Amino acid sequence: MADTVRIFDTTLRDGEQSPGVALTAQEKLAIAEQLARLGVDYLEAGFPQASEGDFDAVSRIASSIQGPSIVALARCNRQDIERAAQALEKAQNARIHVFIATSPIHMQAKLRMSPEEVLERIDAMVRLAKSYRDDVEFSCEDATRSHHDFLIRAGRIAVAAGASTLNFPDTVGYTSPREYFQLITAMREAIPDPDVILSVHCHDDLGMAVANTLAGIEAGCRQVEVAVNGIGERAGNASLEEVVMNLTARQDQYQVQHHIKTQEIYRASQLVSKLTGMTVQPNKAIVGKNAFRHESGIHQDGMLKDRSTYEIMTPETVGWGLSRLVLGKHSGRHALRQRLEELGLTATSQQIDQIQARIKELGELKSDINDQDLEAVWQEEVGQMRR
Ligand code: KIV
Ligand code: ZN
Repeated sequence: MADTVRIFDTTLRDGEQSPGVALTAQEKLAIAEQLARLGVDYLEAGFPQASEGDFDAVSRIASSIQGPSIVALARCNRQDIERAAQALEKAQNARIHVFIATSPIHMQAKLRMSPEEVLERIDAMVRLAKSYRDDVEFSCEDATRSHHDFLIRAGRIAVAAGASTLNFPDTVGYTSPREYFQLITAMREAIPDPDVILSVHCHDDLGMAVANTLAGIEAGCRQVEVAVNGIGERAGNASLEEVVMNLTARQDQYQVQHHIKTQEIYRASQLVSKLTGMTVQPNKAIVGKNAFRHESGIHQDGMLKDRSTYEIMTPETVGWGLSRLVLGKHSGRHALRQRLEELGLTATSQQIDQIQARIKELGELKSDINDQDLEAVWQEEVGQMRR
């Protein structure tokens, strides 16, 4: 049977570090619920020491979300780890994620610590985290600009101190697939214990996050750290939907399984976009508005004859549902009600009639009513009824 790759979602932690994004605890909870429906294995809920708001959100998620293991981030210091442990107290399954930088530039310029001091700190702080929670992940921040020999020493010390997952982030989005494959291969050879899961966490500064993540899997990583819509620091993290659909559509290539319910992807994408205010570009793979739309006559002709001429996966697989049933002046009430449900927009029977009348009017002016149009009409009609 194929190995399983654990999906570690960091939308609420690294994703929320996107410039301009600030989610309330309530919004984080709504996203966490959808991530649980999506089937992520690990849900990184936040960085409790960063703020009271983060602490509160992690605690609320830890006490109410069932399914995924809830993760809290901590730097390699006592206060962070104790705060993370406190925030996770009510979680059934939880992990403390401890990190420290291992690259020369970060150790010298940022931490102002010698490599030996960093190694001592890893030993002490992973042990401390382990005293609170059985499941501890250790990350070598800026791993892709660290020396392999030093990463191996850091990784071995973390494992001896109790870490069962070792994460090698491409913190600054600098690596390439070949280089990352070599890094993970070297780590696997040096730390061959099958109970230690190697993990990949890639940023997208050069647009390579998904490619590097997949290279990490090919080299033996069995955990991927990803974010919905690829949001995150600067250019973002590897996108959950792109990584998962690569594993799904190219099973022949990667030969690994995952636990994601792919039909929940679109809903997750829409919710994250709506609550963070970060719009999804139309040509974004998997979840962009145009991802499953066919415009040219030649393509439409091919599609009418056999969908697989131009579709390598169906929109239904990722939860687009009726995405190709275009709403307009000829569309029916059933399609309208279903689309509203798909978008999570509730309306009474009378409101649906009013929305349908408005859609027909709009259809005279515009051939293809999209989800944004529908949501705007819904807001006007349902909002008016509420007043
Ligand atoms: O990019 C990074 O290095 C991180 C770590 C904290 C895991 O986000
Ligand atoms: Zn990161």
